[in-house]
Amino acid sequence: MNAWFVTGTDTGVGKTLIAAALMHRLRERFARVAGMKPIAAGSLQLPDGRWSNEDVIALRDAASVDAPLSLINPYLLAAPVSPHIAAQREAVTIEIERIVQAFATLQAMSDAVVDDWTWRRRQRTAANHRPRRCLLSVASMHGGRLRTA
Ligand SMILES: Nc1ncnc2c1ncn2[C@@H]1O[C@H](COP(=O)(O)OP(=O)(O)OP(=O)(O)O)[C@@H](O)[C@H]1O
Ligand SMILES: [Mg+2]
Repeated sequence: MNAWFVTGTDTGVGKTLIAAALMHRLRERFARVAGMKPIAAGSLQLPDGRWSNEDVIALRDAASVDAPLSLINPYLLAAPVSPHIAAQREAVTIEIERIVQAFATLQAMSDAVVDDWTWRRRQRTAANHRPRRCLLSVASMHGGRLRTA
C-alpha cells in the first residue's frame, strides 16, 4: 500500500492539479488508485442531485477506484472559504478519527491513495494543527510508509 500526501501552504497553489496529475501517473503502476480530500469547503450540486465539491470531483475523476464520495471527502462544507472558517460558521466539528477511518477504508480498496490537503503553516489555531495530527495518525497506521509529494 502506498500513500502520498500533497499539500501546499496556500490556496490556489496547485495542490489539486498536482494530486490529480500524480494519480494519473500512479495509474500506470497501480491498478487501484484513489484520491482523497478530507475537508472540502465550497459545495456544488452534481447532475444527480447530490452535493460535492469541485476538487473532490476532480480527484474522483482521476481515480481508478469507484469509491463513495463520503470516503473521498468525509467533510463537505458549504461556504467557499477557508475550511476552518466554514466549519466554524456551520458549527461542524472536524473529528480526526472520522478522517483516519475514511482513509483506512479507502486504503483497503486501493493500491495507492493520494491525499490533497491544505496546510496553513502560518496560522496557529487549533483547527490548523489538525492536518499535522491527521498526517501523523495516518503515517503511524502504516509504519511511517507515507510519502510526501
Ligand atoms: N503548475 C501550474 N501551471 C499552470 N497553472 C497551474 C499550475 N498549478 C495549478 N495551476 C492552475 O492554478 C489554479 C489553481 O490550482 P489548484 O486548483 O490545483 O490549486 P489548489 O492548491 O488545489 O487550490 P485550493 O486551495 O483552492 O484547493 C487552477 O486553475 C490550475 O489549473
Ligand atoms: Mg484544491
